Amino acid sequence: MPHSLKISVPSNSSEYKIVIGHGLLERSGTWVRNSLSKQTRRVAVISDDNVFGHYGDEFIRGFTAPDLKLYIYLIKGGERRKDLKTVTEILDFLSTSGISRGDAVIALGGGVVGDISGFAAAVHLRGISFLNIPTTLLSMVDASIGGKTGVNSKYGKNLIGAFHQPSGVLIDPSTLKTLPERELTAGLCEMIKQGAISGHALLNKTRDLLEWFPKARFRENYHSQIFRSHLSSMIVAHIAFKAGIVAGDQHEVSGRVDAKSRKILNFGHTLAHALEKVTGYTKLRHGEAVGYGILFAAELSKSLALCSEKDVELLNDVVHRVGTLPSLANIDRQEVFEAFKTDKKHSAGSLQMVLLKGIGKPVIVAENEIPRSTIHKVLKRLLTEWA
Ligand SMILES: NC(=O)c1ccc[n+]([C@@H]2O[C@H](COP(=O)([O-])OP(=O)(O)OC[C@H]3O[C@@H](n4cnc5c(N)ncnc54)[C@H](O)[C@@H]3O)[C@@H](O)[C@H]2O)c1
Ligand SMILES: [Zn+2]
Repeated sequence: MPHSLKISVPSNSSEYKIVIGHGLLERSGTWVRNSLSKQTRRVAVISDDNVFGHYGDEFIRGFTAPDLKLYIYLIKGGERRKDLKTVTEILDFLSTSGISRGDAVIALGGGVVGDISGFAAAVHLRGISFLNIPTTLLSMVDASIGGKTGVNSKYGKNLIGAFHQPSGVLIDPSTLKTLPERELTAGLCEMIKQGAISGHALLNKTRDLLEWFPKARFRENYHSQIFRSHLSSMIVAHIAFKAGIVAGDQHEVSGRVDAKSRKILNFGHTLAHALEKVTGYTKLRHGEAVGYGILFAAELSKSLALCSEKDVELLNDVVHRVGTLPSLANIDRQEVFEAFKTDKKHSAGSLQMVLLKGIGKPVIVAENEIPRSTIHKVLKRLLTEWA
C-alpha cells in the first residue's frame, strides 16, 4: 500500500504530493499525468547513464500516458558533473526538444540529477514544471524535498541555484536494491543528521533499523515484507521532519537563527562542504562527508560545554553502524579551515555553525562566538583520528 504525503509550501500557496511505495516506478505514467497540467504535452526525462541503465526500461514500460511525448537526456553521473556546463547541455536539449512553458522536466536519479534537473527546470523559459523520482536513499529522505536546486561552481558547492518546488515526488524504495554500499552509507549519514536535530524518536528509528537489518544485509532483505515496510515508514518519517522545517522557512531566511529555521538542516555540513571542496569532490560521497561533519559538530558542541558526552557517544555509535567512512589521510587542516569560508557566502558573510545542545536541540552559533583555538583543537584531533 503506497504512502502518500502532502507537502505544503504556505508562502506561495503551492502544495505537492509525495507518493512512496515499492513498485511504483513501473506504474509511474498515471502519476506523471495526474501531477501535471492537462496542457502538458512534452516531458523531458533527465537521468544519469548508470541509473537509466538500471531503471530506464522499467520507467519507460510504466510510462502509459499516451498524450505525453517523452524526451530522454542522459548525463554522466557524479558530483563533478554538477556544474553549469551540464546545465547548459540540458537547456540546449530542452530547447531543441521543443519543451515549452506548459511542459515539464522529470529527474530520475540521485541528488545530483535532481539538483541539476530542478535548476534547469527553474531557468528554462523562466521556470517550467518539475517532477522528481529520487533513486538514492539520500535523495529520497533529503535532496528531493524542499525545492533547493542548483550546481557547484569553482568557488564552492551549491553556490549557483534557485528555489524551485517540484509538482510531485515519486519514491520507489525498491530502486535502492541496486544502490552501491557507499551510497547507502551516504544516505544513512544524512538520516543520522536529521535524527540528531529532530530528536530521539527519529534517531532511534534509524538506529533500530540498522540494528534489526544491519546495512551489510540490506540487499538480501528487499524481498522481506517487514524490512520493506520498516524502510518505507522510516523514509516517510524523515520526509515529514524535513518538510515540516522547510514549510516554516521555505527560502532559508538569512536572519533566522532559531531552532526551527531551515539552517538547522545544515548540521554537519560546515565541515562536510569543506572536506568535499578540499578533496576536489572526488574522494568522499556528500553523505560520507556529512558523517564526518556530524562527528565534528558534536565534538565541538561538547568542547563548548553545550552537549553532553552521552549524546556525542550516541551519535558516534550510530555513525559507526553505517559502515567505514573513507580515510582522511593527508588533509591539510588549514585548508579545511579556509574552506569553511565558502559557507559564509550562504549566510551573509558570517559563518554560522549548527551545533547541538543535545539530541533534538540544534542551536546556531556565530563563528565569532567560538574561540578559533577550540575549532582548531577539535579539528586537529579528529583529522588525526580519521587519517
Ligand atoms: N537539494 C537539496 O536539498 C539537497 C540536499 C542534500 C543533498 N543534495 C545534493 O545531493 C547530491 C548527492 O546526491 P546523492 O547522494 O543521491 O548522489 P548521486 O546523485 O551522485 O548518486 C550517487 C551514485 O549512485 C548512482 N545511483 C543512483 N541511484 C541508484 C540506484 N537506485 N541504483 C544504483 N545506482 C544508483 C548514481 O548513478 C551515482 O553514481 C549532492 O550534490 C548534494 O549536494 C541536495
Ligand atoms: Zn547534505
